[in-house]
Amino acid sequence: MSSACRASGITDGTIGLRARVPLHRVESAGGPGARVDPRARYSRHVSSPTAPAALSLAQVRRVYPGGRVALADVTLRIAAGEFVSLLGPSGCGKSTVLRLLSGLDLPTSGTISRDLPDGAVPGYVFQDAALMPWASVRRNVELPLMLRGANAQQMRGPVDAALRAVGLADSADAVPRELSGGMKMRASMARALVMSPRVWLLDEPFGALDEITRFALNQTLLSLCKPLDGGKPATAVFVTHSVYEAVFLSERVVVMGRPGRIVDEVAVDAPYPRDAAFRATPKFAALCAQVSDALQRASVAEAGA
Ligand SMILES: Nc1ncnc2c1ncn2[C@@H]1O[C@H](COP(=O)(O)OP(=O)(O)OP(=O)(O)O)[C@@H](O)[C@H]1O
Ligand SMILES: [Mg+2]
Repeated sequence: MSSACRASGITDGTIGLRARVPLHRVESAGGPGARVDPRARYSRHVSSPTAPAALSLAQVRRVYPGGRVALADVTLRIAAGEFVSLLGPSGCGKSTVLRLLSGLDLPTSGTISRDLPDGAVPGYVFQDAALMPWASVRRNVELPLMLRGANAQQMRGPVDAALRAVGLADSADAVPRELSGGMKMRASMARALVMSPRVWLLDEPFGALDEITRFALNQTLLSLCKPLDGGKPATAVFVTHSVYEAVFLSERVVVMGRPGRIVDEVAVDAPYPRDAAFRATPKFAALCAQVSDALQRASVAEAGA
């Protein structure tokens, strides 16, 4: 389904809590990566202007009540199967871009388009794991299915699969206070994964984690985004403040500046799957330097504005 939401407030309706999602799709929730050879190399190479767009913003402006300009004029096209990171100083509008792409917010002017299968919703992972503190990991992960009317029997398979995929199978009965920060983020990813998203929107999900846990979760995320059944990899828009994380994960790093605009883009031309060896390459170091430089230029331009 192709959809466009304009300033008129028209949305595609896929975000409603009661949106029906065929449960047979959910059965494969924990499967991403399971049906392909984990060592198989693949390239995205989809950021060409002719590749079909999964998500796009055209001349989008978002002014909050009170006059705060969160996005001045953003045009961004994300191809189906592309992994794009958004990087930029605090307050430059990264979270606003994600909210607009998810349909949780509407632009003041401009056009947002999403091309999602019927009934599909993007998997949205927030910076804070936002788990229900009184409920077990299993109950938290069941939530999106419950809201769509699934019964206990229908939920068991997909929830087990999602918990296995993020490495939490042994913690299904724990409550959030018994989990480490990394485990909470894994539970949050499982809650999104249970709906089998092929479009992920991730807002600094690993910002509060130590380096080693962050590396491990970067790897988990890439494996959840792998191509399924010979198809395309999942589409992902990932917000981060870490230059290294952006380069490691992405096919393209988009650098934003204040007020709400895109100032540069850096292509990361390296095949997937990526692993620790990629971080040790001269190419990785050169790309990180290039992205840092773009960030630096964004802040200098801002200071001089
Ligand atoms: N609900 C709101 N009402 C008014 N202003 C808002 C609202 N949400 C965000 N803003 C403002 O819009 C601008 C962009 O906010 P946004 O949260 O998108 O930035 P960000 O790049 O995600 O920042 P950070 O890196 O700190 O998360 C900021 O100036 C912020 O203060
Ligand atoms: Mg933010």
